[in-house]
Formats: sequence, structure tokens, C-alpha cells
Amino acid sequence: QRVGIVFGGKSAEHEVSLQSAKNVVDAIDKEKYEVTLIGIDKQGNWHINDVSNYLENENDPSHIRLHHSEETVALVPGREEKQFLQVSQSEALEQLDVIFPILHGTLGEDGSIQGMMRIANIPYVGPDILGSAVCMDKDVAKRLLRESGIEVAKSLTLRERNKGDVTFAKAARTLGTPFFIKPASQGSSVGVSKVKTEEEFDQALSEAFLYDKKVLIEENVDGRELECAVLGNEYPKASQVGEILPAGDFYSYESKYIDESGAGLQLPAELKEEEEERIRTSAVRAFEVLECEGMARIDFFLTKKGKLVINEVNTIPGFTKISMYPKLWDISGIPYPKLIDELIQLGIQ
Ligand code: DAL
Ligand code: MG
Repeated sequence: QRVGIVFGGKSAEHEVSLQSAKNVVDAIDKEKYEVTLIGIDKQGNWHINDVSNYLENENDPSHIRLHHSEETVALVPGREEKQFLQVSQSEALEQLDVIFPILHGTLGEDGSIQGMMRIANIPYVGPDILGSAVCMDKDVAKRLLRESGIEVAKSLTLRERNKGDVTFAKAARTLGTPFFIKPASQGSSVGVSKVKTEEEFDQALSEAFLYDKKVLIEENVDGRELECAVLGNEYPKASQVGEILPAGDFYSYESKYIDESGAGLQLPAELKEEEEERIRTSAVRAFEVLECEGMARIDFFLTKKGKLVINEVNTIPGFTKISMYPKLWDISGIPYPKLIDELIQLGIQ
């Protein structure tokens, strides 16, 4: 079968996507699948390359960088002949049996590319248009979860046109301090701030509005950060549970991808059997409530008093070397290459 791995993209998570794609490309069974790399640059242009060009450089340490420059997405920096060929979208999609979109955030994880694949009649890995769109918008996702009795963090939603409606004092009165300000549709903690004082408030709002027209002001849930991976279509299954041990003030972009001594992971998390079961059941329910398919990573808080709160659901979770989704399946008995294989098969179904 011919698989197109799509990565990069115009979103703020472009670099994260390159890291994720690198790991997926390394893990995919190249005997079983004929792999085409489809890189989308930051301007939104599409480029293709045969995976053999990537493999040829396997012993070259720079091969691990799916390098991005202004004009193009290249496998190895400075290797002109190995550069991707810019093509039209339809040329890139020609003759593929399935697409594995490893695009985080806007245009990749929000239903956009899923709609495009639907029109092109190409099956793809991960949730369909509806599940993708719903999970990308934290405000909409929370409303649906709340409606089905799943606990979420208390929050206020603010649109650009009425951003003067909520002052620091009002937010503090409603949510307590500190609280978080985040764009409604973003990933990897891009544009997220933890706000403790009135001085930080305006700055945090402006930062969040850089990324979205809709922003969430959300209570700080004091609890352990736990994540559970879900895999499947009609009969989704939950992995074991992992824990994030944030190093800084919160699990920020820096602590995720930049700071080498950033957040730690505890796999599996040390939990009572009852807690673990509650999290896994709740993960599958959230997956169903939010119309997910294929895969999703469900992020939780567990408070000291035992209250379980869903923070958010990621429909194209990270596949970077620090990412929880593949690690959780690995400890649950599905090693990385097998996971990629299962995901592709679920996409084709
Ligand atoms: N948005 C990042 C990639 C994640 O959820 O892992
Ligand atoms: Mg996310």
C-alpha cells in the first residue's frame, strides 16, 4: 500500500510536526508500505520526496533533521539534489492509498485537511472532519464534555470583539488565581500564559489573541497531570496511564520541546487501580463523546480529593521523542512500528 506522510504545515506547531514526522518515518515498515513524504512549508506550499532519499542518508547525523528553510522543506540541509519537489496538492495526492497526516494544529488537526482528503476520496489516519474540528476548539469540546457529565476546568470564553468584557478582577473572582489564558484552537501550549497578577493579564490576553479570535480564561486545576492514549474506531481501547512531571511553572512549549531538562514523564503513572480504571473509562467516553476515530490522546488532571478533570483531547497527538502517545502504547504492549501499522489499517477501514 502506498502511504503519504504529510507533515510541516502553516500552523504554529510546524517544528513539532517535523519532529513527530521524523519518528513516524523511522518507525513505519518500509517493506510493507511504499512511503511518500509530503512536506508542507510555512507558506502552505506542498513538496514531495521519495522516502528512499531520506533513507540513503540514514548514517548521516543530519538526516534526523527534516530541515525547513524559507522556500522548501529539505531532508538534509544543503543537499540540493535531495530537496523536495514542489508540486500541486493534487499531484501530491495522486496514486496514494492512504494519508497519514502528522500535522498538529490549524489546517492539519482541525478538520481542514480531513475535508480535503474526503473530497479527494483518500482514506486517512485519525478522526474525521467533525471529531477533528470539535477537539481543536477547546471551547466547543468543553461544552460537549460538560453536557455529557464529564468534568472540565471552569472557564470563561472571550472573543476579540468583546475582549473588554472580562477584567482581571472579574476573572479572579470567578476562577480564583492564578488562572490560565489560552487561545481556543492551539496546541503544544503555544500562546498559553499562567496569570497571577493584573499586570500579567493584558499581556497574556494580547499574546493569546495573536493566535486566535477566541480565547479561554481557565481556572488552574491543582492536580496531577495524567494522559491516556486511545486507539480504535468502533471499539476504541485505552492505553495505560502516564504522568507529566512539569519542571517549570506549567507544562509549557519550552518544557515540552526546547528545554533539555524539561518535563519528566512517569510511565506508567503510579495510581490506585480504581483511579487508573476511572481514567481509562473516562478517556474512551471522551473519545466517543467528541466523535473521535483512529487515535486521540486524552489529557487529565487528578486532584488530591480524587476529582478527575479533562483538560483537553488531541486528535493528532505528538509523535516526537518525548511524546506520550507512542510511549503509552509501547508500555501497553504495542511497540512503535506496530502502532503505526495499526493506525494506518484503522485509517483504511
Ligand atoms: N499538540 C501536541 C503535538 C500534542 O498534543 O502532543
Ligand atoms: Mg493540545
